[in-house]
Amino acid sequence: MKHLSTFALKGNICFSLDKNKLSVQKQSYLVCQNGVCAGVFKELPESFHGIPVRDAGDALIIPGLSDIHLHAPQYSFRGMGMDLELLDWLNTITFPEEAKYADLDYARKAYSIFVEDLKKSPTTRACIFGTLHVEATELLMDLLEETGLKTFVGKVNMDRNGPAVLQEKSAEESAASTVRWLSDTVGKYQNTRPILTPRFTPSCSDELMKKLAEIQKEYHLPVQSHLSENMGEISWVQELCPETSFYGEAYDQFGLFGGEGCPAVMAHCVHSPQAEIELMKKRGVYIAHCPQSNTNLSSGIAPIREYLDKGLHVGLGTDIAGGHSLSMLRAIADAVQVSKLRWRLVDDRLKALTFEEAFYLATMGGGEFFGKVGSFQKDYAFDAVILDDSFYRHPQPLSVRDRLERLIYLSDDRCIKGKYVSGRELF
Ligand code: GUN
Ligand code: FE
Repeated sequence: MKHLSTFALKGNICFSLDKNKLSVQKQSYLVCQNGVCAGVFKELPESFHGIPVRDAGDALIIPGLSDIHLHAPQYSFRGMGMDLELLDWLNTITFPEEAKYADLDYARKAYSIFVEDLKKSPTTRACIFGTLHVEATELLMDLLEETGLKTFVGKVNMDRNGPAVLQEKSAEESAASTVRWLSDTVGKYQNTRPILTPRFTPSCSDELMKKLAEIQKEYHLPVQSHLSENMGEISWVQELCPETSFYGEAYDQFGLFGGEGCPAVMAHCVHSPQAEIELMKKRGVYIAHCPQSNTNLSSGIAPIREYLDKGLHVGLGTDIAGGHSLSMLRAIADAVQVSKLRWRLVDDRLKALTFEEAFYLATMGGGEFFGKVGSFQKDYAFDAVILDDSFYRHPQPLSVRDRLERLIYLSDDRCIKGKYVSGRELF
């Protein structure tokens, strides 16, 4: 792993300027200075003459992708149990597997595989759920730190409605484990940061939520959870929290739903009512759109066009293992595909997403949760992925933009030839 303060990558540079505009610059130089982008140039300006250049030939160079919702312990069973809906899938497949992470040997085996594969993927940043186990979550953080990827990682909280093998004994115990985990990990790493992770309302008592809110204020932590994913889940939350008028309020009443000093990522938002959408906008909540998971678990199709039109923050998540593919390239294609079905089958007033919009979601949309991330505009973090599509044969000439769309749709890991995070070369 090398870290050079000033260098350039040469190739076909593609990045979003905004949600509708993709900049494509053929055979150009992308300059990194002190970990951030210094510019994209057809010819290197004189001030950069003599800097090291990695020539990627005819390959494409795109910003690293931000996967803003996935579960590390679920990587082991991706692609299995895919004929179930959310709540049955959680009870029969997910919870029994997550319980195994009480065993650190098992956790090491499983997390090593996950972390190695994530490192090789086009993802440079991620918001990751662990399990409720402190030791296993710390191990996951240690392993992630070594990769150079920039991540938020959460020790999960669950004190109700779980199986005996995967439930904390009380709100006190759950909060105490969280504080122990935070005192071990806050400030310990350069790349890996803790994020408060109440699994979802059915798993967390009011008492626990209150304690987590106190912890949030003391440690100034961001929050991640699930929201309005599935009809059965939503009616369950209504029964559990009769005093709330919509699901989002179950988090908001404790101050765990975005707002000043509490950035929050909520996964799914497939069936959010208008009042919830308005509150997400007001609180600056980041929506993690997980199209493959929403398909696999029959959850539905989130109205991403509406969220974009209303100016909400939206990024993409693989939601491993509701989603089966770790590839954020695939998530981009899935986002376009499900939006077309939604337009056709659900609401023809909401136009399908364009390729440019879906690419933006995976780069700048989710990247913003991490700061100035997800573009090659000046001063954005130098997160870059080199994609070589030369093994795809074609008889016709193709534009770089068409090659980008094709390699994203074909989502083949063999494309991935290099990766940089904040200017650091991972491979
Ligand atoms: N809701 C609560 N837990 C989970 C989970 O692990 N995956 C998904 N997709 N939804 C959830
Ligand atoms: Fe999830």
